Amino acid sequence: MPVRTFNEREIELLHEVLASGRLSSLAGGTFVPRFEAAFAQAVGARHAVAMNAAMSVLHAAVAAAGAGAGDEVICDPVCVFGAVATMYNNAVPVFVDIDPVTMNMNPDLIEAKITERTKALIVTHVWGLPAEMDRIVAVAHQHGLVVIEDCAHALFATYKGKQVGTWGDIGSFSFQMSKQMALGDGGMGVTDNEGLAKALDLHGGAPTFLSVAHGLHWNYRMTEQTAAIGLVQLERARGYVQELIEIGRLYDAAVRDCAWLTVQRAPYEAQHTYHFWAAVFWGDKQGIPLDDFQRVLREEECSVSIGYTGMPAYKHPLIHHRLGYGRGCPLDCPLYAGNQNHYPDGLCPVAEEVIPRVVLAYTFSPQEHHQRNAEALHRAVTRLSG
Ligand SMILES: Cc1ncc(COP(=O)(O)O)c(C=O)c1O
Repeated sequence: MPVRTFNEREIELLHEVLASGRLSSLAGGTFVPRFEAAFAQAVGARHAVAMNAAMSVLHAAVAAAGAGAGDEVICDPVCVFGAVATMYNNAVPVFVDIDPVTMNMNPDLIEAKITERTKALIVTHVWGLPAEMDRIVAVAHQHGLVVIEDCAHALFATYKGKQVGTWGDIGSFSFQMSKQMALGDGGMGVTDNEGLAKALDLHGGAPTFLSVAHGLHWNYRMTEQTAAIGLVQLERARGYVQELIEIGRLYDAAVRDCAWLTVQRAPYEAQHTYHFWAAVFWGDKQGIPLDDFQRVLREEECSVSIGYTGMPAYKHPLIHHRLGYGRGCPLDCPLYAGNQNHYPDGLCPVAEEVIPRVVLAYTFSPQEHHQRNAEALHRAVTRLSG
């Protein structure tokens, strides 16, 4: 373990969905509202709105925050998803650099990026390690920003004892197949704020004659079938996450004495839930070239990946080549009067240096694999540390 279990429990509920003939909550199906209620309770939020993917939740969350053409949204630069959701809404992503050890948004650097155009802040709990949420929320709320937590990597992770997704104004979770809780696809937005819940719900529902009176929105509804599987998986997900934490510890132990790999960890109270175990390679600064590390990893049959995308989000072709809706939008939208829509080299120097050095072990595979893989990693670092 961990191995995802799908068995007769899911089949029973799927049978119930089919037998009812109501394959959608729009047709009176009850599984989506039941899954929403169970998920809200599991993460400690008042409201949850199910959707078909986390990208849909992020799209809807930025809209619910009131960010659109002419506005700015603060994002972190490791993963591109927050910036993409910002651009879906025709707003401009503004990047705040990360801390080199936590790999999360550095709260000290946020204030300098806030302008009168900033409407929201999207913070990712990168690889499953919570960001420093009390400090991030404090600075964002001081400036009236809506805080959106991207928890796609961090189901059940906690910061100072409270679950991620409940620190900010909206939390977004992914049920895509690589994530801690996988339902094929799916996403969930959580919030304690009734107004934001209603705004998210417009997109989790469907554009109807009545609902379009509230403005333009999308049909991101989750199916009853997905929600039925979700109800069962939610019961098992805490067990999966516990095993991922144990797997993370195997890798921590494997590199404990290595002076040139810095394990991703928090200097504050946080429970990481390890979508990936991560460390940063600094061997080249100590006479160990990256090529040698990669060769020795291969020789020891250790399967970790190095470098993630190799670039911060703002060097991604979508942003670098100023793509989007065409006609200049969103990055060169004529309604945008600010100057944070250019992304020169050196914009986030820590992210630029750290991302190509990130060593990642994807945790969701059998524990025996990780036992062997962590031993192989240990042999590799021991050989090179001489
Ligand atoms: C950090 C992060 N946010 C958002 C997403 C989007 O999730 P989904 O595939 O459910 O739309 C992903 C997916 O990989 C992700 O890793």
